[in-house]
Amino acid sequence: MPTLENPYLLKAGRVEKVIKECEGVYTFHVRTQEPAYPGQYNMLYAFGVGEAPITIASMGEECIVHTVRAVGDVTRHIDQLREGDYLYWRGPYGNRWAIERAYNKTLLIISGGLGLAATRWVFEEALNKPIKRLVHLYGSKDYDSLLYRYLYENWSSKVEFYITLDRPDPRWKGKVGLITELLKELELDEDTIVFTCGPDPMVKACVRILQEKGIPQNNIYASLERHMKCSVGTCGHCMIGPYFVCKDGPIFRYDLIREYFERKEV
Ligand SMILES: Cc1cc2nc3c(=O)[nH]c(=O)nc-3n(C[C@H](O)[C@H](O)[C@H](O)COP(=O)(O)OP(=O)(O)OC[C@H]3O[C@@H](n4cnc5c(N)ncnc54)[C@H](O)[C@@H]3O)c2cc1C
Ligand code: FES
Repeated sequence: MPTLENPYLLKAGRVEKVIKECEGVYTFHVRTQEPAYPGQYNMLYAFGVGEAPITIASMGEECIVHTVRAVGDVTRHIDQLREGDYLYWRGPYGNRWAIERAYNKTLLIISGGLGLAATRWVFEEALNKPIKRLVHLYGSKDYDSLLYRYLYENWSSKVEFYITLDRPDPRWKGKVGLITELLKELELDEDTIVFTCGPDPMVKACVRILQEKGIPQNNIYASLERHMKCSVGTCGHCMIGPYFVCKDGPIFRYDLIREYFERKEV
């Protein structure tokens, strides 16, 4: 991963497009030519308020895509930006998905809720890579929380893209139930590579099922979300065991973090 010459340098880009995904969640297409890799994140700035780590959901030729759920001061401020405003950030930070490991194998992507923002770009990249079989499971708590509805038709026409909702809805004709149920039904080779991002309990439950299917932990990669302040490995806010999620992660091979991730008090 190339290191940033000045990790604190503030960057700016014009907001070209804003998409309302669902209540309190907006996707921003921001003009920039800054390079980045799938899996990395930026620290988005709200002047006088603070900053927040936000994954890079996708990247076009001259734009970067961020999806932001308003949960606190910074994210509420960012979600008010509209076309023509400027977004400020520092980054990109963190590592990337190890997509090469999935070449000529099955790649299974498991996304829960807003975790889809962290897997979207690598999924889009995987569509054009020599992957033998590409399967993406996406679980959302309800119909109104679904992200990126405008992309499903294209994705489902190309690969196995399955959605399940935790709660039934008269507008939803697809699967209902936890993502773990969808995973249990899936036939997978034992050398399948897995990328996952979602709430910690979802990740843990999915790993247990994957193990029952004979998939080793060192084939599983999880993108973790932890509180972050500095994002450069100095403040210690983001630590999980000996690792800094901000700079050693956010993506970890599961066998390396399991003992810390599955411990209750960590
Ligand atoms: C690597 C990484 C990537 C992320 N990507 C995205 C993304 O693409 N889109 C997105 O909307 N959010 C993402 N997040 C989460 C986002 O950073 C937090 O929601 C944000 O920092 C909240 O900042 P705030 O000032 O708006 O809220 P605050 O006022 O800081 O917090 C509001 C509430 O959220 C809780 N909270 C804050 N940060 C976290 C966290 N990291 N984990 C759990 N709870 C938290 C607080 O305890 C509080 O209850 C990501 C986090 C990480 C670490
Ligand atoms: S956020 Fe400060 S050490 Fe990771």
